[in-house]
Amino acid sequence: MIDKHFQGQGYGTKALKLVIEEIKKLGAKRIQTMHKPKNKIAGKLYQTIGFSYIDNLDDGDLLMEMKINN
Ligand SMILES: CC(C)(COP(=O)(O)OP(=O)(O)OC[C@H]1O[C@@H](n2cnc3c(N)ncnc32)[C@H](O)[C@@H]1OP(=O)(O)O)[C@@H](O)C(=O)NCCC(=O)NCCS
Repeated sequence: MIDKHFQGQGYGTKALKLVIEEIKKLGAKRIQTMHKPKNKIAGKLYQTIGFSYIDNLDDGDLLMEMKINN
């Protein structure tokens, strides 16, 4: 979560990329995330970074996944 006063300034994208690099170092083969259907900003951000939609969860959340090529 990025403080609302600082959203739209690139921090979310940078933070997400740093987290993904750390997860890659741990040897992960895939990373999953999810968001509420109405949270279009998060969905677009995840897609831009490389996540794809793979499922709709029982509670309505949208599940996304990124495969890691180590
Ligand atoms: C989702 C979130 C982490 C993105 O962080 P951020 O620092 O605003 O992201 P960025 O500045 O890197 O912007 C990422 C994209 O979102 C867009 N964006 C950010 N805030 C926006 C807004 N209020 N309205 C429209 N687009 C917006 C940016 O334009 C950018 O798109 P672009 O690459 O096409 O230019 C932030 O909005 C947030 O903390 N939201 C509340 C918590 C939340 O929803 N977390 C995710 C739960 S799944």
